[in-house]
Amino acid sequence: MRHPIHLLSAIFLLPLVTPFSCSLTASSIPYDLSPLQGIREVSKDTATPPTTSEAKVKMELCEPDGIGKEDGVADEDQCPPNTKVCLTLLNHKPSASDPDRVTAVIPIWPADIPDEDVFTTPMGKNGEQGLKIYVQGADYAGVRQHLNLTLLCSQSDTAPNPTFVSYTSGLVSLEWSTPDACPRSADSPTAPSNGSSGKGGLSFWGFIKFIFWFSIIGLIAYFGIGIFYNHQQYSAKGWDLIPHRDFWREVPVLLQDLFAHLFAGLRGNNSERGGYSSLG
Ligand SMILES: *[C@@H]1O[C@H](CO)[C@@H](O)[C@H](O)[C@H]1NC(C)=O
Ligand SMILES: *[C@@H]1O[C@H](CO)[C@@H](O)[C@H](O)[C@H]1NC(C)=O
Repeated sequence: MRHPIHLLSAIFLLPLVTPFSCSLTASSIPYDLSPLQGIREVSKDTATPPTTSEAKVKMELCEPDGIGKEDGVADEDQCPPNTKVCLTLLNHKPSASDPDRVTAVIPIWPADIPDEDVFTTPMGKNGEQGLKIYVQGADYAGVRQHLNLTLLCSQSDTAPNPTFVSYTSGLVSLEWSTPDACPRSADSPTAPSNGSSGKGGLSFWGFIKFIFWFSIIGLIAYFGIGIFYNHQQYSAKGWDLIPHRDFWREVPVLLQDLFAHLFAGLRGNNSERGGYSSLG
């Protein structure tokens, strides 16, 4: 039986996910972004005559240590190594003595920012459209920096890098169409489940729900038919209408007995009593 394990890990582990993890659950929809691990780079040029301005994003979504240090680049021209998303602004002027000047280095998503500054929101009713990651970063030049990363669920797009949408007033907007932005349980909606945690969990609760309602309806039918029968057959009245009255009168005593046994088994000696204490 694997279901109780899943249930336990869901209950005990979920509140502990502190550092951003690429295997995440947003509004109880599971995503696995770990295939997006690796350093990704994307940039956008804007003509700013007589120069060209370039905004360059370097990103490492999954590695907990961030993008690391790039060799051959001055420290002041790159973000600290433990940055997940770094924005660099460059200015290109071919005729200048320094044709590729770095004008700003902005750590947008430092790996060590608190949990509550990272927001993950599923898109679409069941997250089938993807996942939105919004990050509140630090101040840069007096402006709070933000990241708006839209991961679009697409089975056909496999772009190795995100698209740079814009950088305005401290907000970096990136968009990335990838199959890895699809919820995990929706990977293969038509394929039979191989006992994956999502589907298994669902059918487990479905089963419990089925048993619950089945018992309720069964009890109602039992008493309804029993009372009707006793009334028609014996013209019974009052408590005599209840089917198997003697048995139901015994039930409280039986329950009391059962609990007495249970507690005796839990409290005392490790001796097993009728199997009640041998659940493990
Ligand atoms: C984030 O970017 C998407 C486009 O990728 C845009 O539609 C959306 O409005 C942006 N969100 C914010 C808060 O700016
Ligand atoms: C299910 O298991 C079969 C073999 O046991 C495998 O070929 C298939 O890829 C699995 N499907 C999924 C969705 O994991």
